[in-house]
Amino acid sequence: MKLEIKNQSLFIEKAYINGQWVDADDSSTLDVLNPVNQEIIGRVPNCGATETNVAINAAAEAQKKWQKSHAKEKASILRDFYNLICSNQDDLARILTYEQGKPLAEAIGEIAYSASFIEWFSEETKRIYGDVIPGHMHDRRTIVIKQPVGVVAAITPWNFPSAMLARKVGPALAAGCSLVCKPAKQTPFSALAFAYLAEEAGLPKGLLNVLTGNAQTIGKALTDSTLVRKLTFTGSTEIGKMLLKECAKTVKRVSMELGGHAPFIVFEDADIEAAIAGAIAAKYRNTGQTCVCANRIYVHQDIYEQFSEGFVKEARKLQTSQGFDPLADQGPLIDEAALAKVEEHVADAKNHGGQVVLGGQPHELGGLFYEPTVIKNANDEMLVSYEETFGPVAPLFSFSTEEEVIERANNTPFGLASYFYTSDLAKSWRVSEQLEYGIVGLNTGIISTEMAPFGGVKESGMGREGSKYGIDDYLEIKYISLAGIEE
Ligand code: SIN
Repeated sequence: MKLEIKNQSLFIEKAYINGQWVDADDSSTLDVLNPVNQEIIGRVPNCGATETNVAINAAAEAQKKWQKSHAKEKASILRDFYNLICSNQDDLARILTYEQGKPLAEAIGEIAYSASFIEWFSEETKRIYGDVIPGHMHDRRTIVIKQPVGVVAAITPWNFPSAMLARKVGPALAAGCSLVCKPAKQTPFSALAFAYLAEEAGLPKGLLNVLTGNAQTIGKALTDSTLVRKLTFTGSTEIGKMLLKECAKTVKRVSMELGGHAPFIVFEDADIEAAIAGAIAAKYRNTGQTCVCANRIYVHQDIYEQFSEGFVKEARKLQTSQGFDPLADQGPLIDEAALAKVEEHVADAKNHGGQVVLGGQPHELGGLFYEPTVIKNANDEMLVSYEETFGPVAPLFSFSTEEEVIERANNTPFGLASYFYTSDLAKSWRVSEQLEYGIVGLNTGIISTEMAPFGGVKESGMGREGSKYGIDDYLEIKYISLAGIEE
């Protein structure tokens, strides 16, 4: 299929290994489907263990030289890469909408978000500082230096095919590492376009490899390899746990950005209009398919009716359509499994006494489209109260006290994002400190930025992406104990 993009070179149906655009060794391919209508957008090579090992060896070789390049050289290439992402923003966004389905305006926003990580880490590469520690003996000094981890395997998801890759590639390259990346099978074209622009920016061959194909085979080759020193993964907790187990065999460094189950709490003293706007943003972004989407909305009993009415009014305005429709706010879900999960959660909520006050069924557009949905009288027996829905379903729970809602918000194995609205300063501190989450949105429903350390606690994972902390995940600390200093 010919995509409607200005720069056709960005649409590539090959894998990228050691600076070459290649097919699978056995020439087999995988179809990539448009989630709007299930039409084939294109085909990518079905790579396996052999191609993965070639990529790993190339990455190991390239990394030896890259780690010796000085900070300004790395910064300059990353800056050029950032500029190229910006100048190709529209085409990159269109590729994203074709394969992922999100509205074009959201895709344009995602490309800007991706670029921001490359820009940020092009600057951070100059700030990889060490330390000098006072001697513990008269003739000693201890010098701490930071060095790249080495070859990094990056496994990225379909919900943000560009941004989640950029969030790993930026810090890894800035730290002096090389990468072998495996994008999700549903959305490989954004990653391939990204690699094309990195090459255009002058990134030496072998430093960034993109493998398309079977996740199990490629994943196994990556985790088995002793040359791969780190694995960074964004995806489900279930897969994350399997990867952790595999990485234990060679004791790899790991960063895991796993599932969430975000509570969104509206206290009785909140600005209700602002809380409604924040909840709509936090719930329906990317059709509810983000790890930080509000999954449980807890509203104080005194304002429950007022909040619900306003929330439904705003949710009703959301337009569901294919992503290239300029009016679209919500696109299709990614696949049949995603649709089935949403349907299961809604049916279960109804069975447990939930009142569907908006949506609650597949959209009239058919296929993978689902209506923006609001469920009142949500309770803790429902699946939505303990499982991530990953779809456009907003269950509204009622609560009566601060202690109670904190307990319910924390009563989950997950700990990625949380949100609350209040106008009470003391409560702001108290609740922020007590929420067992890596991220707290206080009077905001939008918490993502390259300048903050994104990541979770508990079964939502480990490691941080973005900010000055993000580069530490790609650096080893070494100390040199220097003896024999004359007094
Ligand atoms: C995610 O859903 O994994 C990431 C969302 C974000 O960066 O805002």
